[in-house]
Amino acid sequence: MIEQRKEEHIRIAENERVISEHNFWDDIQFVHYALPEIDFEQIDCSINLLSAKLDYPIIISSMTGGTQLAKKINRNLAAAAEKLHLAMGVGSMRAAIEKPELSDTFSVISEFKIPFKLANIGAPQLINQSKNAFGSGEIEKAITMIEADALYIHLNFLQEMIQPEGDRRAKGILKRISEIASSFPVIVKETGNGISREIALELKDAGVKGIDVGGLGGTSFAAIEYYRAKIINDEEKMNSGNTFWNWGIPSPASIVYCQVGLPVIGSGGLRNGLDLARAISMGAVAGGFARTLLKNADDSEDSVVKNLSLIIRDLKIAMFLTRSKTVNDLKKARKVIVDPLKPWIDLHA
Ligand SMILES: Cc1cc2nc3c(=O)[nH]c(=O)nc-3n(C[C@H](O)[C@H](O)[C@H](O)COP(=O)(O)O)c2cc1C
Repeated sequence: MIEQRKEEHIRIAENERVISEHNFWDDIQFVHYALPEIDFEQIDCSINLLSAKLDYPIIISSMTGGTQLAKKINRNLAAAAEKLHLAMGVGSMRAAIEKPELSDTFSVISEFKIPFKLANIGAPQLINQSKNAFGSGEIEKAITMIEADALYIHLNFLQEMIQPEGDRRAKGILKRISEIASSFPVIVKETGNGISREIALELKDAGVKGIDVGGLGGTSFAAIEYYRAKIINDEEKMNSGNTFWNWGIPSPASIVYCQVGLPVIGSGGLRNGLDLARAISMGAVAGGFARTLLKNADDSEDSVVKNLSLIIRDLKIAMFLTRSKTVNDLKKARKVIVDPLKPWIDLHA
């Protein structure tokens, strides 16, 4: 059942238009430096992310696991992460926790030297639903399965409301996150709807080590679940998928809201190196790419490396043209923010 769902997510994300109507990265324009006064070759893109040093401020976001197709995708992403010295997350590990024979579809990434690996579990699995909650034993299983450096706990409650088999209980999850964060380094991520300042502060109090905003502007899980509901002609879920297609906090605004003294990963709708530079300029330490890399990963390792190399080149060009010798310098780059993103940023001011 979970395996079928995972396969459908991939195929729908590859073949249907499952993105929100507006990409808010387009609402950020850098002021051009006609005199860069640095040499392109001098530009240093390396960053520190918790315990790791990465050559580039890039995280391959959590996508999949649990099927043979997912294993191929994870392998191709992992090979690229090793080659370019980037961080990588795997998709929700629930399937392999419940069925250990699926472990290799995730642990395949351990064959590669990746500087920072993230295990992944859904927040709804941390409390009792129709199935019992995962305890520390299951969490440990997920971490050791890929020899992870940290655990992503993903928040996906809109998706749970649209998917036919969704988990609807959410009471007590913050406490569970706090319990897990006392034993493992936890980064909490959204999956396309963003994180507000109030939630960021609650997560900080709960002891998480970082926040990945997963904001609005890219993959819409309301859209993906709309297409899944369509397959089985579930009119109720199709209706809600349609209604909430564009629900959420724009990714760039969520980065601003989440500045609470923790490392923030900017994600949700990143398409290229210029978007990545925009995310960093808003306060992210790094950017997360998911759907942009999916087709490449389904194709080959070389295809992923090629796309990531284009992303890196464009990041460096944006740094060159904003006189940013280091990733941190990008935070000082002057920029103009226009509608419809602007009122979201003004809300925080
Ligand atoms: C096919 C697919 C499967 C995904 N599965 C997971 C998952 O299992 N766990 C998770 O935390 N996020 C998952 N995500 C969400 C991404 O990590 C990311 O937060 C979201 O897609 C927004 O980024 P994007 O606009 O770059 O795609 C998935 C995304 C896609 C496209």
